[in-house]
Amino acid sequence: MEKITLSTKDVSMEYPGVKALNKVNFEISTGEIHAIVGANGAGKSTLMNVFAGSNPGYTGQVFLNGEPIEIRTPNFAKKHGIQIVYQEVDTALVPSLSVAENIMLNDIVMNQKSSFMNWGAVRKAAAEALKRLNVTNINVRSLVQNLTLAEKQMVLIARAIQAECNFLILDEPTAPLSDTETEELFRVVKSLRESENIAVMFISHRLHEVLQICDSYTVMRNGEIVHNAPVTPETTTKEIVEKMLGRSFEENFPKEEVKIGEKFFEVRNLSGAYGKVNNVSFYVKRGEIVGIAGLVGAGKSELCKTIFGSYKKTGGSIILDGKELKINNPAQAVKNRLALVPEERRKEGVLVQETVAFNLSAACLDKFCMMSFVQTGKVNENANRFVQDLGIKTPSIKQHVRNLSGGNQQKVAVGKWLAADCDIYIFDEPTKGVDVGAKQDIFHLINNIAREGNGVIYASCENSELLSITDRIYVMFGGEIMAELVTKDTNEDEIMNYSVGTRAEAKAGA
Ligand SMILES: Nc1ncnc2c1ncn2[C@@H]1O[C@H](COP(=O)(O)OP(=O)(O)OP(=O)(O)O)[C@@H](O)[C@H]1O
Ligand SMILES: [Mg+2]
Repeated sequence: MEKITLSTKDVSMEYPGVKALNKVNFEISTGEIHAIVGANGAGKSTLMNVFAGSNPGYTGQVFLNGEPIEIRTPNFAKKHGIQIVYQEVDTALVPSLSVAENIMLNDIVMNQKSSFMNWGAVRKAAAEALKRLNVTNINVRSLVQNLTLAEKQMVLIARAIQAECNFLILDEPTAPLSDTETEELFRVVKSLRESENIAVMFISHRLHEVLQICDSYTVMRNGEIVHNAPVTPETTTKEIVEKMLGRSFEENFPKEEVKIGEKFFEVRNLSGAYGKVNNVSFYVKRGEIVGIAGLVGAGKSELCKTIFGSYKKTGGSIILDGKELKINNPAQAVKNRLALVPEERRKEGVLVQETVAFNLSAACLDKFCMMSFVQTGKVNENANRFVQDLGIKTPSIKQHVRNLSGGNQQKVAVGKWLAADCDIYIFDEPTKGVDVGAKQDIFHLINNIAREGNGVIYASCENSELLSITDRIYVMFGGEIMAELVTKDTNEDEIMNYSVGTRAEAKAGA
């Protein structure tokens, strides 16, 4: 099959105070799955955005099959066969339209001049695109708003390949997916390489995925390419991490010893979140880190949000230090000294239009006020501390959060609540999209919160994380708790067994 090559020569991209790309020389050819890895803020998304035409201010040159091209608009990129699927899939879809309309969106928009739209043909072409991906479980007539995240991603990939597509960019596609959904995505990605001879540029912080499906990889650090190699059976995640961070790194997250105290927080028979949380009971002791395990869609986020008052409760109670709390909205939760780091940081976790310093103090402004004056000195001191502790990559604490890389926005969302003075800290997938080094920092800070005698609720579908950081784990399925496990006596297989709907009693009785 004919090979098409996309390459760069000395491509640079500068933002005020940040050299996001520094003379990058990169090359990829069709028929390969190529990983781009690097710490948060290394420049991965920036480079991909150059290819996708969304960074028109780049300098240096891009070549398609050796011919120089100027990729200054998304349309130009698409016309030249470069398609991108962003991580925040929702922003690229129209939820009130059907799957078929979303897949064929570009064609429909282009066709606006003529009043006649052949909907039969639109549906047929959309179905054809899904068939090429071997995706059979999505009906082209369904509304996109009713799809799961993984299905939405498939719709976007279908949209990409039904247009001219030689280079497909997937920026952290697996971050929100469950293991099975990830497997499905990998199957699709591999088939695109094999049957359609497409090049896939794949960004992920889960390095074992890189070893699993990529043919080659590029490591970026501080806007530069520091390494480029094929993936061989000898390649290890450890060596990749060391190249990413530029230093040796032991990837282990030992549980730090913390004195466990009294039971002080309890959720009794909690139901709500429009039926997605059913009769949930659990407790937390002082100093304890309690995990909430379960697959994507098990109701973990719904549980966190119901406790925090973002979703409506229909029954049950929440008790802190023996007193029943009245929490009907997040403001009341905060007043009762609860904190929540939500999963969808851009929508709920940070104020992207505000500065890093503002966000890091937003959860505890009263701490930084004298009478009604904000003490800027204290706000800045607090911000500098967390920028340091979490390694938030930003030119200054006055930078607007929208200008940070995805992982660094997540660190701000976490840091915001670490600064607050609460009793119960709820973390919902706090490490999604953060690099391994930062993950270790976040774990360390969460351990510190526990050490101060607070309670931590840690929801995650990464069972390995739960096993390394928690004391006890509750496993959810279908909005209910299936099992309570003591972390040191359990393992991934047992958690998985309950995650798919086995109930602990049933097992004990069997
Ligand atoms: N619009 C912008 N304005 C200012 N700086 C920006 C802008 N976009 C990106 N940056 C900066 O450029 C650098 C590279 O960011 P980029 O988003 O490419 O990182 P990344 O490797 O994708 O990281 P992550 O793993 O966190 O997604 C970061 O320091 C980031 O703060
Ligand atoms: Mg990124």
